[in-house]
Amino acid sequence: MRQSSLVVVANRLPLDDNAAPDGACEWRRSPGGLASALHAILQKTPATWVGWGGRVGPAPSLPDIGSLRLRPVALSEPELRGYYEGFANSTLWPLYHDAVEQPVFDRGWWEAYRDVNRRFAEAAAEVVEPGGAIWVQDYHLQLVPGLLRELRPDVLIGFFLHVPFPPPELFMQLPRRIELVRGMLGADLVGFQRPQAAHNVAQLAVKLLGAEVTANDQITVDGRTVRTGAFPVSIDVAEMQALAARPDVRHHAEQLRADLGRPRRVLLSVDRLDYTKGIEHRLTAYDELLRDGRVKVRDTVMVQVAVPSRERVDSYRVLRDRIEGEVGRINGEYGRVGETAIHYLNQPFDRADLAALYQTADVMVVTPLRDGMNLVAKEYVAARADASGALVLSEFAGAAAEFEDAFLVNPHDVDGLKETLLQAMEADPADLARRMAAMRAHLSSHDIIAWARAYLTALDGTGRVAAGLGRSVRARGRAAGLRR
Ligand code: ADP
Ligand code: G6P
Repeated sequence: MRQSSLVVVANRLPLDDNAAPDGACEWRRSPGGLASALHAILQKTPATWVGWGGRVGPAPSLPDIGSLRLRPVALSEPELRGYYEGFANSTLWPLYHDAVEQPVFDRGWWEAYRDVNRRFAEAAAEVVEPGGAIWVQDYHLQLVPGLLRELRPDVLIGFFLHVPFPPPELFMQLPRRIELVRGMLGADLVGFQRPQAAHNVAQLAVKLLGAEVTANDQITVDGRTVRTGAFPVSIDVAEMQALAARPDVRHHAEQLRADLGRPRRVLLSVDRLDYTKGIEHRLTAYDELLRDGRVKVRDTVMVQVAVPSRERVDSYRVLRDRIEGEVGRINGEYGRVGETAIHYLNQPFDRADLAALYQTADVMVVTPLRDGMNLVAKEYVAARADASGALVLSEFAGAAAEFEDAFLVNPHDVDGLKETLLQAMEADPADLARRMAAMRAHLSSHDIIAWARAYLTALDGTGRVAAGLGRSVRARGRAAGLRR
């Protein structure tokens, strides 16, 4: 078994094993922020990624991606139901997102969650070099740090949570709350998107495990001190910048605008089809703007990209039906022949197509009800090389803490959302340019490489693990267009 000095463990591998229509195996980049973020850094780093290949049954054998080795973990059908669709995505996901959808506490799921976490831990323990580092990702694998501490006490163990960590009073609802906090605290360093998450975990560690905590949320439990901290995740700025500069992408963006009927304004949203993304609230606001005559289909078009996600989970199926019903109703009511109010696209796009869409959008509408970060907001900013365009951004996305110059909005307040959309649509181009330049300046020094470097340097205290990562956009001096 080949071993690596850096092992990343995440539920999903960066490639999804999708069945082509003829039944053949077809590899595709996995959807979602975690895969986007890590794929960007790891393909250039000697490392192993332990994860699930996206299909039930035996683990497929996978080729390396550049210097990255893939170590697939098999999931059976009952495990997929209990661990992934059940405990991870019907219990933890809604609970961690402010319970915007009711979390389901099904006692039958726990066993699968625990067993699958053990399988991931064993796979990671097998492929890490003596004295190496293992970096565990996200809520699917919250028990893995604790299991690894038993299996491989010689390695550094990191954990990063990509989603929000809820306030203690919500977390306390969880029947398995003690095991979950203890599992996560098996790590040497626990990273979050926001500092508040670390405070929440520290409070819970005191309450549930009798831990001692310092003012900066270092947690001492079972005679060991666990460090915590906020490390806001980011995107491959250089990749998005390069895509946005490509002549074919620019041409595609112009073509898209022409295909949309050359409207005065294009509004765009790009989400996984998830109830945390606030798609319904957004549609309600847009519907009312059309109804009140404050927006006219004659000169304004909305494009909603909603990539299919977790489609076997009931709440996602129900949500899709509701959204599609609503889009159909709005288009039926306000559209005309050749003038569609909302273009709805329920399909994956490649990176170049996304870059073209971002360039077409005058107003990017990112209004999740709760989101750990939201990388779409960052991708839009990176794609706007000419510093034009308006970003309407939910206060409840982690990205809002970094983009104070966005048009920040509370998406639960439909009247506020309507007013903010209008404000963004009518903003003075000089004001937009100032806002966009400030956001781009921030992004240029906070890209995905800077994120990984900050986390891994905090993990090992020396920068040794981070050495192979390359340099951030600003450090490489390639970001001329991104600087203030
Ligand atoms: P989440 O992690 O909840 O999915 P993020 O906004 O952080 O939300 O990340 C979503 C990622 O998925 C982004 O990198 C975005 O470009 C990508 N993505 C979103 N929609 C699509 C789509 N239709 N096709 C391909 N990639 C998509
Ligand atoms: C979010 C989660 C990721 C997850 C992604 C896509 O970004 O934080 O862990 O991979 O959504 O969801 P999926 O269930 O398709 O992996």
